[in-house]
Amino acid sequence: MKVTVVGAGNVGATCADVLAYREVCNEVVLVDIKDGLSEGKSLDIFQKAPINLYDTKTVGSTNDYSMTSNSDVVVITSGLPRKPGMSRDDLIGTNAKIVTSVTENIIKYSPDCIIIIVSNPLDVMTYQAHLTSKFPRERIMGMAGILDTARFRAFISEELGVSTKDIQALLLGGHGDTMVPLPRYTTVSGIPVSELIAEERLNEIIERTKFGGGELVKLMGTSAWYAPGSAAAQMVEAIVKDQKRIFPVCIKLEGEYGIDDCYLGVPVVLGSKGIEKVIELNLDPDEHKLLEESRKHVKEVMSVLDNL
Ligand code: NAI
Ligand code: 2OP
Repeated sequence: MKVTVVGAGNVGATCADVLAYREVCNEVVLVDIKDGLSEGKSLDIFQKAPINLYDTKTVGSTNDYSMTSNSDVVVITSGLPRKPGMSRDDLIGTNAKIVTSVTENIIKYSPDCIIIIVSNPLDVMTYQAHLTSKFPRERIMGMAGILDTARFRAFISEELGVSTKDIQALLLGGHGDTMVPLPRYTTVSGIPVSELIAEERLNEIIERTKFGGGELVKLMGTSAWYAPGSAAAQMVEAIVKDQKRIFPVCIKLEGEYGIDDCYLGVPVVLGSKGIEKVIELNLDPDEHKLLEESRKHVKEVMSVLDNL
């Protein structure tokens, strides 16, 4: 199995590293526009192999897409990250151009691949890549839900002083301040979280989750990469190993949740064919309202893209 990661910056290099050391595939090709960057990072990951004991081949390419040919899965992380004071949506103009040209190059050499978008604003960049590739929606998706849910799970584990491994959670909607964490579908080793954390405190944790990306931008002056890169690698692994994992993934909705023609995170089954099933939850009226607010926000940003 061959996986290409476009963008050898913070998120892309982390994703490539996780794919390599977990031996998710045989070969990882890292592509960047900056001369030597992807070659250098691939070489560094290769030189870590004798220490961490893996056999994955890692190759770098400065904008030569012929080296990506016949990739099974492609992760697109190229684009600007946000800086303090910026929202993810502020990146739209620059990143739309980057995502379009990268997608064109990718599909030329790997017409049958599955594409995972990471670049922000995530939901709208997934829309952009879908317009460019014209792939069926099963083969073009965005990573955000695993990251946002991981933040929610991490904060719950910290609150309760228990292992992150025992926290199961779910989250819907766009990758932004309107994301919809779902406490009703969140459990701690099977125990509903509402039995362990009081409502008011849980709401504070939900608010922290919604602004979890911004918290890190404030601390570091740029956005996060360890959790995002690992989350993208987890999606690749589910596809490459046909694991049929259930994750929240950004996909074009076609009537599910009563929503049409909008790109939002919903739980799906991820396997070798890409998105193999969209799971529709029975939302209560409050959850529906929050999802509708998220839909409206993503639609607004989609129309900004349409008018660029
Ligand atoms: P970074 O600046 O560290 O890396 C981006 C890389 O893309 C740079 O090395 C740059 O040279 C490269 N690049 C730019 N134009 C390119 C092109 N045309 N072709 C190939 N490579 C190109 O940024 P970082 O932190 O890795 O973030 C990447 C993107 O991922 C940003 O848009 C960021 O907002 C987004 N992101 C999304 C997350 C999500 O949950 N969906 C989480 C974290 C970041
Ligand atoms: C994050 O949530 C910025 O989307 C990026 O960390």
